[in-house]
Amino acid sequence: MKYDIKNLTLEEKLHLLTGQDTWRLQTANGKLPEVFLSDGPNGLRMHDVTKEGLPTKKATAMPNIHVLANTWNVEMAYLDGATIADDCIENGADVLLAPGVNIKRTPLCGRNFEYFSEDPFLAGTLAAAYIQGVQDKGVGTSLKHYCANNREYDRFYISSDMDERTLREIYLTAFEIAVTKSQPWTVMCSYNLIGGVWASENKWLLTDILRGEFGFEGIVVSDWGATHQAARVAKAGLDLTMPFRAESFEELKTAYDNGFLTEAEIDRNVARILAFMEKTQNDKKVITTTKSERHENAVKIAQEGIVLLKNEGNILPLQQGSISIFGHQNLSLGGGGSAYVQTDYKIPSLFDALKEKLPASATMKGTSHCHIDWNQALFHGTAIQAVREVDTIVYCMGTYKEIETESMDRTNICVSPTQVDVLKRIAKLNENIVVVLHAGSAIDVSEWEHLAKAIVYVGFAGEAATEATADILTGKVCPSGKLSETFPMNLESVAVGKYDGNGFTDWYKESIFVGYRYYDTFEKEVRYPFGFGLSYANFEYSDLKIEKKGETDYDVVFTVKNTSNIDAKEISQVYVRDVFARVIRPLKELKGFAKTALKAGESKQVRISLNERSFAYYSMPLKKWHVENGEFEILVGSSSKDIRLKESVKISLPFDTQATNTF
Ligand code: BGC
Repeated sequence: MKYDIKNLTLEEKLHLLTGQDTWRLQTANGKLPEVFLSDGPNGLRMHDVTKEGLPTKKATAMPNIHVLANTWNVEMAYLDGATIADDCIENGADVLLAPGVNIKRTPLCGRNFEYFSEDPFLAGTLAAAYIQGVQDKGVGTSLKHYCANNREYDRFYISSDMDERTLREIYLTAFEIAVTKSQPWTVMCSYNLIGGVWASENKWLLTDILRGEFGFEGIVVSDWGATHQAARVAKAGLDLTMPFRAESFEELKTAYDNGFLTEAEIDRNVARILAFMEKTQNDKKVITTTKSERHENAVKIAQEGIVLLKNEGNILPLQQGSISIFGHQNLSLGGGGSAYVQTDYKIPSLFDALKEKLPASATMKGTSHCHIDWNQALFHGTAIQAVREVDTIVYCMGTYKEIETESMDRTNICVSPTQVDVLKRIAKLNENIVVVLHAGSAIDVSEWEHLAKAIVYVGFAGEAATEATADILTGKVCPSGKLSETFPMNLESVAVGKYDGNGFTDWYKESIFVGYRYYDTFEKEVRYPFGFGLSYANFEYSDLKIEKKGETDYDVVFTVKNTSNIDAKEISQVYVRDVFARVIRPLKELKGFAKTALKAGESKQVRISLNERSFAYYSMPLKKWHVENGEFEILVGSSSKDIRLKESVKISLPFDTQATNTF
């Protein structure tokens, strides 16, 4: 052990439990290294503490996490983490405050662009790969926000209120997967309360579950300002209050003097901080990419995360004729708040990017300035002419960082009426419209969807947005992203309303029925289902075999064939359905997925493993995950609604694990 706790005085130990300033840990009078924590997750957002006003340093603005999630590709998640780590190393950040795995309970949540999915398995699996990507380069991560912070409304004071089964199955699972698979160096507690107890003081969550059950070995950091009493959080198992808090030392000292906090408890937290500090001092921090390679990685991830939602008459890819762009062609790069990354990359306009990538048989009309400002619905004579004359209109619309941001939720899930109005005017003059949609979360497309022949959901794709979009529009890259969150019909059809509670609590009355678990089980129509995304290619599924490895362990093996004449990638999804259960369960749940690259005409065998957890629900009376004997359907799909292959297995666990069977 490099940093010996015996060299620290009690006073130094108590000081160590709170930060030195906004971003750095204390150094115990220079006995310990200076450790710098910095945001995350959509790239490095780091303040320059050497300068007045803490300006933000420039870094690679990566596709936002929701775009990464739409890749459904663990390799992309790893690449994202590794790429951001190089920016961290270059700028001296020891820990990246990312990723966030809070579940998208409602499309209104202002931070959905920072989160992965409405599904905990997908969120946890991708987060684990991202963490690995960062940490393999000797930079730490902070898995956040632990837990049940699922909207921004009143995030500092609201208590998320739900039963334990809901908490375990929906809101803790992604943390559990990420911790058990990748051991983040830190976990960040959330601001809110859970069941009336602050996340920062919640011993059950911070110590019993996180450490005791999930096996977390790092330190727990508070979200910035999420602690209210330093001694209580220390006792509950929160190691580091961030940022510096003037009252902390007195609170800790008083608690020590009056016996509320023991020296053993202080030493336990300090020892964990010292072990963490030691991890930050490593020789893995070697930059292996140039700035332009980091940008190329951002483009790769964005290309795979863009989702083709509609493509009537195969209007895409753009191969011939004249094309003009209207709308806001400076696509939104990211959502607002602590995740917003400042880049100095000279982002080409979509016009220029398209012009460069189009085949010779197609031409761009107008200029990169040929757009209608999205605040200005009025058409000039020249614009009318331009719209009529061209063969295809690319119309860019969406939201921006002032609407989708930390600290507030959206008030609706529509794009602004002005943008829809412009689209309607264009549609009267030209019916060949391709909508490029840039938004950080699900959008209600009902008012205008019929006006667009194609919809390309780019999301907030960072500095790669225009280049990757041009690659998809021109067919240089075949679209392969699929939705990691459902696009509902409208806000009214979402299970979770604007806000349910008594002013102090947010009641999770929908229980485990979040996202597709709700729509599927209760047969609610959706606009674009979870797991959906079109390709320019077609895929055939065949030869499903379920190989039994143990009573609850199976390999799901099947063949996917690209029946088209272009190279493409297909995301296959495995859902499990408990045919009969003594508790209410969702119709089906995602338990595995794979992304397969297939050359034109190529077939590949795909293998996805299922284990005990794939069949289990959390039993409150038994206080554990429980598999009930009986039949389970294994559903292999191209989306949650497009199930291509199906097979059943029968699980028969020993008598003493099961309730008495009366059937
Ligand atoms: C956010 C965290 C962030 C921290 C530091 C908080 O307000 O909730 O996600 O890491 O600030 O910027």
